[in-house]
Amino acid sequence: MSLTLQLNVNGQLYTVQAAPDEMLLTTLRNLGLYSVRCGCDTTNCGLCTIWVDGEIILSCAYLTVRAQGHTITTLEGLKEEAAFLGECLASEGADQCGYCTTGMMMSVMALRRKKAHPTDQEIKDFLVGNLCRCTGYQSQLRGIRKYLEAMAQ
Ligand code: FES
Ligand code: FES
Repeated sequence: MSLTLQLNVNGQLYTVQAAPDEMLLTTLRNLGLYSVRCGCDTTNCGLCTIWVDGEIILSCAYLTVRAQGHTITTLEGLKEEAAFLGECLASEGADQCGYCTTGMMMSVMALRRKKAHPTDQEIKDFLVGNLCRCTGYQSQLRGIRKYLEAMAQ
């Protein structure tokens, strides 16, 4: 059995068919939104991070049926800002394999909206759910600082 649902994604309305137990991660990737990635099956990696009504959520653990009537945002909906954040990360060497980057960027852009001038510890605490196997996090932290400082001006 599948359900017919209307989803508001990145300001566009989509009509989708989804099984009652389908997770939003799957639905969004089926729509071609490949910034939304899967890196685990234990809700631990953060690669699937998106926004629902402006709040970060793990799309691998969020039923698609729950998303109806809410505003969904993926990296594709924040292109300009994401491009700038990507430049800041790359300039500090934080773009290694890049697989974790899109989910981490969604968290960073949400953090900026909550707190324009976070401390390093606050950044680390906010990003605790976004794992990275490559960078050791220091280059990411430098890139995020650069982005936050530029956006705050
Ligand atoms: S895919 Fe790892 S937390 Fe969602
Ligand atoms: S850059 Fe490879 S997992 Fe983060």
